[in-house]
Amino acid sequence: MNMVELGMKYVMNTYKRLPKVFVKGEGSYIWDSEGNKYLDFVAGIAVNSLGHCPQVVVEAIKEQAEKLIHCSNLYWIEPQIKLARVLVENSCWDQAFFCNSGTEANEAAIKLARKWGNGRYEIITMEQSFHGRTLGSLTATGQEKYRKAFRPLPEGFKYVPYNDLEALKEAISDKTCAVMLEPIQGEGGVNVPSPQYLQGVEALCREHDLLLIVDEVQTGLGRTGKAFGYQNFGITPDILTLAKALGGGFPIGAMLAKAHVAKSFVPGDHAATFGGNPLATAAALAATSVLFDSDFLQTVVEKGEYFREKLTELQKDYPQITKVKGLGLMIGCDLAVDPQPIVEKCLELGVFINAVGGKVLRFVPPLTVTKEEIDIVVEALSKALSA
Ligand SMILES: Cc1ncc(COP(=O)(O)O)c(C=O)c1O
Repeated sequence: MNMVELGMKYVMNTYKRLPKVFVKGEGSYIWDSEGNKYLDFVAGIAVNSLGHCPQVVVEAIKEQAEKLIHCSNLYWIEPQIKLARVLVENSCWDQAFFCNSGTEANEAAIKLARKWGNGRYEIITMEQSFHGRTLGSLTATGQEKYRKAFRPLPEGFKYVPYNDLEALKEAISDKTCAVMLEPIQGEGGVNVPSPQYLQGVEALCREHDLLLIVDEVQTGLGRTGKAFGYQNFGITPDILTLAKALGGGFPIGAMLAKAHVAKSFVPGDHAATFGGNPLATAAALAATSVLFDSDFLQTVVEKGEYFREKLTELQKDYPQITKVKGLGLMIGCDLAVDPQPIVEKCLELGVFINAVGGKVLRFVPPLTVTKEEIDIVVEALSKALSA
């Protein structure tokens, strides 16, 4: 049996996988086991923000692996403390909790909001949102297709349309403790809300004494051209969740909160055996040393504008593209046609992109991408659209 056949036999069938095995990555490129090279604008689904195998992260992992890989949160962990400090000093929060993934970070946020709510437990989330696959985060996810096979789901979630302040206002009750949303919806289709909407959400939260939780698992850490996505919209949330890019490819999640909220958690309330372990936090410390650099963030803004301009030019020739949208290097193209054949054609041409939210092409390349690499993708897209 070849590797793909072995995979089909031994690995559970939870992903629709391409029949390819990837064995090597460097920068914006990834190679399959047959030696074919691909330009990767999926980047591990917005994980490889520093490209594949970034030296700074590889070195940090090697160095830490030789010292201490894991101990436990029963003791203080040096790189975890340093990482918490970096995250706090680069944001508006006071303390961090560490876990291993985005869904876990959101579970932590849901529990913290309920504990803080002190009897109020309801969390309002958005239609088309995506918050993860564990039962709490899955229930928070405003897409029935993900939830329907897993009932009964936990109580205490309400969904309202994104970018609709009136709907949110009406949904607030005396049981509500928080509003949770993505500053830009990723899996839902790269949906960018208006700043006025997000500012209105924050104002409603203040008026009704609700926590504003932002899920920045996808938008965080430079993806939108700012350290955090919320910074594009002039708001100050109470809780923020992170994962994906945080470890430079190594699994780690985090929840950050203001001190007055964080203090609701006391020993015994929440934990994760592996959360914030020395290896993961050393990797994240290395990744954040680049991801928070203001000169680096400026390059993301410039390359994002360049990419959107190129896509807008392409739109003139291909009316199948109905809208170019996004911020920084989180970019989407609304299509009037099925995106799947375009994704497949690009793959044939050696370019990875993917489709989200029905008819949206999503581009989340490494933030280290070059303009020449953007040109290659635009060229491939042009061929795919004309095919
Ligand atoms: C906004 C958002 N939140 C949460 C998650 C879940 O993250 P994970 O797959 O690490 O659990 C994702 C994953 O795509 C996401 O995009």
